[in-house]
Amino acid sequence: MAKENNVLFVIFGGSGDLAHRKLYPGLFQLYLKGSLDQHFAVIGTARRPWTHDYFRQGIVSQLSKGTDEQKAAFVSHFYYQSHDVKDSEHYVALKKIIDQLDEKYQLNGNRIFYMAMAPDLFGTIAQHLKSENLLSDRGYDRLIIEKPFGHDYPSAHALNQAIIETFDPDQVFRIDHYLGKEMIQNIPYLRFGNPFLSAIWNNKFIDNIQITLAESLGVEERAGYYETAGALRDMVQNHIMQIIAMLTFPKPEHYTDREINQSKAQVFASLPVYSEAEVAEKFVRGQYGAGSDQQQLAYRDEDKTDPQSNVETFVAGEIDLDLPDWQGVPFYVRTGKRLATKNTRIDVVFKAEEHPLFTEQTPTSPVLTIEVEPESGVLLQINGKKIGTSNFIESHQLSDLLDDDQQELVPDAYERLLLEAVLGKQGNFAQWEGMAGSWHFVDAIRAAWAKEFQPEFPNYESGSMGPKAATDLLAKTGRHWLYQG
Ligand SMILES: NC(=O)c1ccc[n+]([C@@H]2O[C@H](COP(=O)([O-])OP(=O)(O)OC[C@H]3O[C@@H](n4cnc5c(N)ncnc54)[C@H](OP(=O)(O)O)[C@@H]3O)[C@@H](O)[C@H]2O)c1
Repeated sequence: MAKENNVLFVIFGGSGDLAHRKLYPGLFQLYLKGSLDQHFAVIGTARRPWTHDYFRQGIVSQLSKGTDEQKAAFVSHFYYQSHDVKDSEHYVALKKIIDQLDEKYQLNGNRIFYMAMAPDLFGTIAQHLKSENLLSDRGYDRLIIEKPFGHDYPSAHALNQAIIETFDPDQVFRIDHYLGKEMIQNIPYLRFGNPFLSAIWNNKFIDNIQITLAESLGVEERAGYYETAGALRDMVQNHIMQIIAMLTFPKPEHYTDREINQSKAQVFASLPVYSEAEVAEKFVRGQYGAGSDQQQLAYRDEDKTDPQSNVETFVAGEIDLDLPDWQGVPFYVRTGKRLATKNTRIDVVFKAEEHPLFTEQTPTSPVLTIEVEPESGVLLQINGKKIGTSNFIESHQLSDLLDDDQQELVPDAYERLLLEAVLGKQGNFAQWEGMAGSWHFVDAIRAAWAKEFQPEFPNYESGSMGPKAATDLLAKTGRHWLYQG
């Protein structure tokens, strides 16, 4: 069993979807594994007037695994406090229950405040936590915040300022749940644990890197939010940028959270700010239409979308980093809704080798593929000899995908990141410097798009792999997307 941690969680937005689908099941896994045991408590807060019992029943209904006794014992640590975050007086009642639970469960004053609600309320909450004395005077105070972190650089900056008036930067844990995924956390192990890979992990040997975050679902119930966001803000600014940083951050001398984050900051600082001409050349956008069988609605016909909407549900682009090891290596990124399949993967495409041995054919490019989900594992495509007396070369695939039993052992991203926040480990959380860099990158693209003629949307069919322009983006350099859906 893991070592127990004494801690209080205060979940703002405790009645919401994120809390129920991700946070409570994540905490339950920590409870089953012993990282939370006798000395923890959770306060859920939101405006609706729930009782503790009603709150607990709702949580139990979301829990899988574990016995009924374990579930009952777990939720006995949960308390509900009706609270409007804009009302200063409500913080008085919240402070009272915090103090009571701190004493009852011997929490040593350790507090994690989780903002599972709309970001425009983060500043108000942070301010009140300080002015109404809800912060601890003996343990630690930590703040966990969720995306979206702003909708452009100025709004993200204002949000950050509002938060750091109350919390020091090292008390703020910005969740990017991709950083909690098994295979994303595996990247440094692959890069630094295999000398034969570290030696070639640079522009001398790598031709290009392709990152695909494909979703098969459409916008579903999130149209209201999505109409103000779009794929560039929703997926590229955060998840794709964090994956690029994991793939490229220079090896830190000591593998401490501080050095890892300093090293990642170098990647974000090296992001380009594209001119309008560069955006036109390097980025394409799309919006889904109906499927060929007309079974699926076009984005503009979905509930709560504008029938004239120009919001992009697909983005593909080339990102060039200004880092010595990566100059000249295009990072091709692609994400979209209603694509042929749901798949998150990274293809590291190495340069093909010319050699007199290969008289009959040119070898193909070796490829290291990191399958993130739904399958998880590593595939290596290498060249070898075709069996027989000829000197034909043939592609071979070495595959190490997790089987069902191994997959069962993989912790959910929220379980892992909640534990890292409890342990005070910042290495897998987004830092402000990185966010600032990626917002500057994204803002330049949005500004260029705003000046363009209206896009001709919809421009890809539901169930396809996106607009033709995404294929052309690579074709013009003689390359192609390795993953075809
Ligand atoms: N859901 C996800 O999977 C997911 C994933 C990534 C990021 N996020 C982000 O996480 C945040 C929460 O998302 P969600 O899906 O959980 O939203 P949600 O289901 O709408 O929950 C919002 C919560 O905030 C509470 N709330 C709203 N106004 C309040 C106020 N003035 N005072 C106190 N409580 C208030 C609501 O309860 P009352 O109405 O009872 O007050 C509810 O508990 C959003 O920023 C979202 O973008 C969500």
